[in-house]
Amino acid sequence: MSFGLGHGRELDDAPGVIGVARDEIPPLPDEAITNPDAGLLDPRAWFADPQRPFEIEIGSGKGAFLLAQAAASPGVNYLGIEWAREFYLYAADRLRRAGVANVRMLNADATEFLRWRCPPGIARVIHLYFSDPWPKSRHHKNRVVQDAFLAQCLRVLAPGGELRLVTDHPDLWTWYRAHIARWTTTEAWAKVPERCAPNADRSRPPFDERPYTPPDWVSPGELIGTNYERKYRAEGRGFNSTILVKPA
Ligand SMILES: C[S@@+](CC[C@H](N)C(=O)[O-])C[C@H]1O[C@@H](n2cnc3c(N)ncnc32)[C@H](O)[C@@H]1O
Repeated sequence: MSFGLGHGRELDDAPGVIGVARDEIPPLPDEAITNPDAGLLDPRAWFADPQRPFEIEIGSGKGAFLLAQAAASPGVNYLGIEWAREFYLYAADRLRRAGVANVRMLNADATEFLRWRCPPGIARVIHLYFSDPWPKSRHHKNRVVQDAFLAQCLRVLAPGGELRLVTDHPDLWTWYRAHIARWTTTEAWAKVPERCAPNADRSRPPFDERPYTPPDWVSPGELIGTNYERKYRAEGRGFNSTILVKPA
């Protein structure tokens, strides 16, 4: 597979080339509607060493988290998924210029990519920081965190894997709390298709909740050190954070 930067310039599959454009992903086969595994591909194969631990960031924006995190953990492969082409290009170019070898940036809808493309059990962490709040009720369906999304996280995470959440938005936090209240009880299994958790012990909740811990590299008082955190902190906003853990 070759990697492009998404603006017509195809580049060789070489370490240090970061962007995976939409048209580099093969089309979803028609049979995916009856066989949801038909379109699976393994993004770990896009890295120089596919055996390394693998983590996904949803909505990477300008790539500040990936830039610092990938440098701090060079033995981990990171896939940033960003659907806004302008930010995807910005982040890929920034990461390429920094010489980061263990990151790929994918220009796609992360919820669709998780659902239709990711094999089960591949990710040890899914990072979701400052997700768009979609404040109007009629737009809540656009929020990344939904029951269907949490079911896919359960499928894509390895046992013991984590979904890490940080938000500045009080209403989005209320939404997260409502979901977490259900997903840390066995009630949530009613929303989990067999494909997402084959052989799961349904007598215990799909997720446990754990207090959030920032990465080592953030500045004192910061949670994740992204552009949005710095901007919102300067505006005096408060933050909420948590970690959902798939039982080992
Ligand atoms: C508010 S910004 C936060 C960016 C970054 N995480 C940060 O903290 O600076 C949210 C980002 O998520 C992206 N995004 C929202 N929904 C997405 C989805 N379903 N798939 C991929 N990217 C998404 C947006 O384009 C935007 O860049």
